[in-house]
Amino acid sequence: MLSDNFFSFKIAGLSFVLFVLCTSVISQNIVRQNISSSDRIKIEELLKKMTIEEKIGQLSLFQSDGDITGPAMNNNDNKYYKLIKEGKAGAIFNVYTVDNVRGLQKIAIEESHLKIPLIFGYDVIHGHRTIFPIPLGQSCSWDLKAIEESEQIAAMEATAEGLNWTFAPMVDIARDPRWGRVAEGAGEDTWLGCKIAEARVHGFQGKDLKDPHTLLACAKHFAAYGAPQAGRDYNTVDISQVSLYEWYLPPYKACVDAGVGSVMTSFNEIAGVPSTSNKWLLTDLLRKSWGFKGFVVTDYGAINELVNHGVATDEKQAAGLALNAGVDMDMQGSTYLNSLTDLLKEKKVTLKQIDDAVRVVLEAKFKLGLFDDPYRYCKKERQEKELMTVESQAFARKFVARSCVLLKNDNQTLPIPATVKSIAVIGPLADSKRDMLGNWAAAGELEKCVTLLEGIRNHVGKDIPIVYEKGCNTNDLDKSGFDKALKIASSADYVILALGEEGEMTGEASSRTDLDLPGVQNELAEQVIGTGKPVAVVLFNGRPLTITKLNNMAPAILESWFGGTQAGNGISDILFGEVNPAGKLTMTFPRNVGQIPLFYNAKNTGRPYNPKTPDEKYVSRYIDVTNDPLYPFGFGLSYTTFAYSGLTVDTTGNKLTIRVTVKNTGTRDGEEVAQLYVQDKVGSITRPVKELKGFKKVMLKTDETAVLTFSLGKDDLAFYHPDLKKYWEPGEFIIYIGTNSKETISTSVFLN
Ligand code: NOJ
Repeated sequence: MLSDNFFSFKIAGLSFVLFVLCTSVISQNIVRQNISSSDRIKIEELLKKMTIEEKIGQLSLFQSDGDITGPAMNNNDNKYYKLIKEGKAGAIFNVYTVDNVRGLQKIAIEESHLKIPLIFGYDVIHGHRTIFPIPLGQSCSWDLKAIEESEQIAAMEATAEGLNWTFAPMVDIARDPRWGRVAEGAGEDTWLGCKIAEARVHGFQGKDLKDPHTLLACAKHFAAYGAPQAGRDYNTVDISQVSLYEWYLPPYKACVDAGVGSVMTSFNEIAGVPSTSNKWLLTDLLRKSWGFKGFVVTDYGAINELVNHGVATDEKQAAGLALNAGVDMDMQGSTYLNSLTDLLKEKKVTLKQIDDAVRVVLEAKFKLGLFDDPYRYCKKERQEKELMTVESQAFARKFVARSCVLLKNDNQTLPIPATVKSIAVIGPLADSKRDMLGNWAAAGELEKCVTLLEGIRNHVGKDIPIVYEKGCNTNDLDKSGFDKALKIASSADYVILALGEEGEMTGEASSRTDLDLPGVQNELAEQVIGTGKPVAVVLFNGRPLTITKLNNMAPAILESWFGGTQAGNGISDILFGEVNPAGKLTMTFPRNVGQIPLFYNAKNTGRPYNPKTPDEKYVSRYIDVTNDPLYPFGFGLSYTTFAYSGLTVDTTGNKLTIRVTVKNTGTRDGEEVAQLYVQDKVGSITRPVKELKGFKKVMLKTDETAVLTFSLGKDDLAFYHPDLKKYWEPGEFIIYIGTNSKETISTSVFLN
């Protein structure tokens, strides 16, 4: 039996179910979305006063010269301060600090005709001044509360410096680590991606956008930007409708359900239609079906790029396509500014379309309280008090430790034994402040950033001598530093080797085809490990790397991503055993690039590979490497061990109640992320071998046992069908619970 809502869905089809789901979510939704009737009247009055140029101005977003986050564009005549004065800019990005923002707002308020306040946006992606681990790292904490809290702090800091809009969260599901922007997302899983998306929107926007400590969020990049062919940024996306609905769209929908105030179009096309000119995507799906109430902004120059895509002959035609599709605001492209008036005269667009777009932009300004006080985000006292607070640093440090994933730990190499009398710290990432921050580090304060070397020194104080050598650079062939590095390794009791990518090797426009450690780092590792000293490798990187060689050599590997301001302190807490690692991978680590895309929720195929008979010929496999990843999704070690037993499933009522016993069987207290996966054995279309459906993060003392209970509705087993209707099918389901997506215990149930 299904729940009432769910039955209705099966009978009445997709649109009704979406309605049911939306209303239930919206009723719990804490974000204030509605505009009061008096504000509505004010918006209509304003619209009546606005010239067509002023209306188009509200639809135009320009970058200041405070920061540059995209290519130079052909709009140099459009100086932003002149545009503000003429009422031709509705929002500005890449400017911050109270003085800078106030200065520009003042032009809008004192020098423009209608005195409409500007919105100020920025890429506050993983913190503003206090930088937290990169989003991919954060997702490995499986800690939704911490993720939400980090966005609250980011919002507090950003709004203390004049900002009121962030271009985040980035919720693109990604299965290809060649794509540099996997660093910005929550990994490969859609279910977890939705939970994290929701936590981020709530963190940024709080309960009411009028609270000046909150930021208007922007779900991006709509849609499926995370699936570029060959992992090359900005490349074509070509996926089936079912995959689009099943894997890629849900996190954007989760943002909409959480009340996100804006959505950014993606650069890519899907099935031949660039997102920025995709009416089905932006109007039919986003607005009509999902009920999105905010405004749609393009990515940087994405309307202009419609010409390169080959769907418009010139930027004027591109502007018409974008407005007709449902784009409200043009980021940096000037296409609306340059062409909408003419397009209106030529009847290629309507005044209603322009008014509708202006309305949602003005609504955002009302929601932010900018009409009450355009300077409400420009309070010097806040800027002095709320940046980089002691509390924010303490939180950031904990968050670093929670995001780290222990990949390997032979012979309990970690934590560093208390008996160690001297430590050699080696490697190009050991003392690089810039690289700790990672990509999109907003206004991150480099000088205040704690490197690994500093973190270790902070930790041991004067008790243990720490010697440091860089050994080599991150990404060149110079081995002249090897000798010095080997010398300090040989004379120390213990070696920490800091290896990985430079911070800027991931992020936008940073796709790679070789995902091994760049430069001569593997050789450095080989020689340092060859000294016979205990060596723990700390990895810094923004994507899964193919570290098969390193994994074969190093006794211990700790994945620390790019941890941000408190990186060195948080990592040291793990290295010295003050914190027991509990992070789990949210993206599969392949053995080599040839295995990509490699993700846990794949299909079985008609000729599945059997790891027990790895040489069997006519099966879906490679002849030169196993199908298995180096580290699977959900993987992460602890300094203690956990055992799972007693898995039961109770199917009474309309739900599945799943229970499992988890015991801490090791010698240290520790936290475990128990993961629940389901396989739908037989379906009318093929189903993945496993799908994450829940998790519980539980702290257990040594020898302590906990019975964990998970509850699944039968609607949690629903999937999209070729007609794009979503419903579940009766039959056998295998329920898996375990410490990662590979090591699980299981049982099976039949559901009618
Ligand atoms: C381009 C990026 O794709 C997007 O994520 C970012 O928000 C904008 N540039 C603005 O910097």
